[in-house]
Amino acid sequence: MQNVVDFIQANSDRYIGELREFCAIPSVSTKSEHKKDVERCAHWLAEHMRKIGLEHVEVIPTQGHPIIYADWLHAPGKPTTLLYGHYDVQPPEPLELWESPPFELTLRDGDLYARGVVDDKGQVFIHLKALEAFLRNTGRLPVNTKLMIEGEEEVGSENVYKFMEAEKKRLEADALVVSDTSMLGKGIPSVCYGLRGLCYFEVEVQGPAQDLHSGSFGGGVPNPINVLCEMMAKLHDPDGRVAIPGFYNDVRALTKKERQQLRRLPFSEKRFQETTGARKLVGEKGYSTVERIWARPTLDINGLFGGYTGEGAKTVIGSKATAKFSTRLVPNQEPAKITRLVRKHIERLAPPSVKVTFRVHSEGKPWVAPFDHPVVQAGRRALEKGFGKKAVFIREGGSIPLVTTMYEELGKPCVLLGFGLPDENAHAPNERMNLENYLKGILSIAYFYDEVGRTPAPAARAA
Ligand code: BES
Ligand code: MN
Ligand code: MN
Repeated sequence: MQNVVDFIQANSDRYIGELREFCAIPSVSTKSEHKKDVERCAHWLAEHMRKIGLEHVEVIPTQGHPIIYADWLHAPGKPTTLLYGHYDVQPPEPLELWESPPFELTLRDGDLYARGVVDDKGQVFIHLKALEAFLRNTGRLPVNTKLMIEGEEEVGSENVYKFMEAEKKRLEADALVVSDTSMLGKGIPSVCYGLRGLCYFEVEVQGPAQDLHSGSFGGGVPNPINVLCEMMAKLHDPDGRVAIPGFYNDVRALTKKERQQLRRLPFSEKRFQETTGARKLVGEKGYSTVERIWARPTLDINGLFGGYTGEGAKTVIGSKATAKFSTRLVPNQEPAKITRLVRKHIERLAPPSVKVTFRVHSEGKPWVAPFDHPVVQAGRRALEKGFGKKAVFIREGGSIPLVTTMYEELGKPCVLLGFGLPDENAHAPNERMNLENYLKGILSIAYFYDEVGRTPAPAARAA
């Protein structure tokens, strides 16, 4: 192991240079104009995997963006891990708010800046560099490993579900490994044991057939923006609870023990507030901030538009208004059931004077798992070695719906070792990843594969 550790410590400059190449490809999955770039990115990554010595590397076309599969399976009697990550990124807009170009990796004050650097290119690369360090120095890996890196995570992973269904055998493993989450804070290595689910909706309100002069018609016709605002205002009650009947029915209450565990974490509400730049934190009455963002379901409007939004004033009644909004779910809420409740509520709120269309964009399940499994504990030990600090167990408010599917369908433990920080601007301008976390991440993940290699393979465990 020492030669692997020395190798990692001697190669940091190269690790930055290679990540720069990866981040230079604008693999924005949501925009059709980037389809070729997404594909180019997949091939670049596959080529890199071949170069470091992974086998059966394949760029698998789908109806959407390609999936990359690779493996290395020459450790008989050792467990098999399946790494899941994504090489697609969010759009960089608004461009004018970036301090350096989004697709030119830039090192500034100890942070690497680029779109996708922390979500999730840098974190995928952490694994590749750890695997490379073993293959280069020992000619082998301490475990059998499979990799599935997709290009549609940021748009709902539709085609990965189909791939998983069709390729159960190829993806068989003893544990799923994901690095696509954050640490609780700088210097606090964290193992994540819970994610929220996500349902994403869109509502369109159509009033008059065309835009109208608001003087000649105002007061006489339904204004779709007024109507939509009224509807949206009825999604919460004054206590910050979601006002959709039945919404909380299946929510598993936090136990005394978990509330106590969450209270003990070194989470600073003040730091969190400062990070957001908001004047004050708000949310559901009766819960702390960590509880609200990790363990309680929420609803947020993500976009609201219609009418005149250009420069100056225009007295007009727009013919249409649209809202995009989404719910974050916790166990045991069922996305399909929540969608039914939301649809019903929207239909009930819609006045007969307008035409309301309701659309579902995506649905994903929440995930919470026990963290006493040997592979998860191997993750904790690895982080502690890599960072030289005690690790904590956290949940996250974000969503990686595929984790739930894997967990439920493969019935295998999932180890989420994230190296982002909460204020690194994922999905926002000036996305960054702390350089020290990137390098300590590579070291930690090397320790992780080494640790997993020391846990018995399930077959051997049963014998
Ligand atoms: N890496 C994130 C998930 C995440 C976000 C984990 C925050 C922990 C904290 C992932 O790339 C993501 O952005 N997921 C989307 C959901 C997806 C279905 C579009 C999300 O959470 O909004
Ligand atoms: Mn991600
Ligand atoms: Mn993301």
